[in-house]
Amino acid sequence: MKRLSVPKIQRRKVDGVTAEPVVMLTAYTARTAQLLDAHCDMLLVGDSLAQVIYGLPSTIPVTLEMMCNHGAAVVRGSYHSVVVVDMPFGSYEVSPQVAYENAARILKETGAAAVKLEGGKVMAETVRFLVDRGIPVVGHVGLTPQAINVLGGYAARGRSEAEAKKIVGDAIALDEAGAFAIVLEGVLEPIAIEVTESVEAITIGIGASARCDGQVLVTEDMLGMFERTARFVKRYHNISENIVQAATDYANEVRSRSFPGPDQLYQPKT
Ligand code: KIV
Ligand code: NA
Repeated sequence: MKRLSVPKIQRRKVDGVTAEPVVMLTAYTARTAQLLDAHCDMLLVGDSLAQVIYGLPSTIPVTLEMMCNHGAAVVRGSYHSVVVVDMPFGSYEVSPQVAYENAARILKETGAAAVKLEGGKVMAETVRFLVDRGIPVVGHVGLTPQAINVLGGYAARGRSEAEAKKIVGDAIALDEAGAFAIVLEGVLEPIAIEVTESVEAITIGIGASARCDGQVLVTEDMLGMFERTARFVKRYHNISENIVQAATDYANEVRSRSFPGPDQLYQPKT
């Protein structure tokens, strides 16, 4: 199977209609990427690795080095999906030039095909700068976790008419700047529908609407790794129960000296 390309993903949307929705999940490790790859169109190396892997309170402390290391692992573990790597907080906001240098580093060090960055109109010039110079960009509007210190929480966005208008305007600005896809996170459904109908970019919903051109979830969220998640997470599994059960069984067997058993022991050659 040949790896999908950004233009191939883009071509899913014809005259505003995406017949086959784009499937995206997060991955931070090679093995997870291997398991998800064949079932996805895009794998996102999200800066949500802050909370999911590193136990950090927000995505703010994530570094470029972390994103490069995990991005490279995910590229090594996949051969089909388009790999998108999040640009961490502080690595792209200051200027298009700085954003380019850091995005180029991500692509060089990881082999990923695209980067994702948060923000609307204010980032449009940067998106244009990157795309014109060979770096495909995914935008991200609505609930943008890197803005946690400005937003004050992770509540849904676009409840007031002014805020709804701003989100739609931000998405259109990213679209006009050349973003090939736009993540719409934590927005009321009518906003997601309006954006999806207004832009050429592939809209990727997370807590948005089934009418987006695609969907993304944090893999560990949908696997049931955490007790508490956002309303928009659907749990397709309860992996934390499996892990706790396995750890319990192992601990019991070690303590009762029933592990290792005959099957796990090296036998003398006969
Ligand atoms: O970091 C992340 O996982 C994301 C998705 C939730 C869109 O940005
Ligand atoms: Na992110």
